[in-house]
Amino acid sequence: MLAIIGGSGLTQLSNMKISRREVVRTPYGEPSGALTFGSIAGHEVVFLARHGYGHTIPPHQVNYCANIWALHAQGAKNVVSIASVGGISGEFKPGALAVPDQIIDYTHGRAGTFFTGADLGVHHIDFTLPYCQTLRAACLKAAQQAGETLIDGGVYAATQGPRLETAAEINRLERDGADMVGMTGMPEAALAREIGLCYAAIAVVANYAAGRGGSGRGIAMNEITAVLEQAMGRVRPILEKLVVSDGG
Ligand code: HPA
Repeated sequence: MLAIIGGSGLTQLSNMKISRREVVRTPYGEPSGALTFGSIAGHEVVFLARHGYGHTIPPHQVNYCANIWALHAQGAKNVVSIASVGGISGEFKPGALAVPDQIIDYTHGRAGTFFTGADLGVHHIDFTLPYCQTLRAACLKAAQQAGETLIDGGVYAATQGPRLETAAEINRLERDGADMVGMTGMPEAALAREIGLCYAAIAVVANYAAGRGGSGRGIAMNEITAVLEQAMGRVRPILEKLVVSDGG
């Protein structure tokens, strides 16, 4: 079964036929909200709004462990994250969609592993390629079928938030090799790998990152909202194709 984690701008899927909602308890506490089970184009999916259904949980307070654990416990095998980002380099302009292939983690103080020592022991996952290659390819194919362009690859910088970055911080991220910046990519991707889920992200460029393009003098939140609304409308048909190829 395919799981979809919706980020800012995507707290529900209008093309999903909902069958039930379930509050899942986990050893890590409560997920961001009830899991929503249903189908898209006749194929089973489970949806979770990362920031809660009322968009009340900021990125640094999302219970990533509980979210990933709950999706896994409910039988998800593949997880696609929809994540809004700021665009840093070349083609990563507002409205662009991308399937990142690398991550740099700048977050701190987040519960970032299931392997906390005690009963599960010490375990080091391989994270050379942080995203599931099979699911990345499926996202790219789904977009092609939906007639949408997805940028294939890109480095996602995960920042702590909830504030946006300074222009100097964005310059630093670019020197580090980042193409886009968001606040929720980590530890979500690492936790998915730890628990054995196939995880990929579709990044939606909501704005130029601080100091870039139209964000030279600041970032207007109302413009972000408008771009996201339009772009999420283009993500839905991609998900419709993706869920078919998931075999769910
Ligand atoms: N920075 C960090 N996270 C974001 C941004 C940004 O500019 N836009 C959307 N999510």
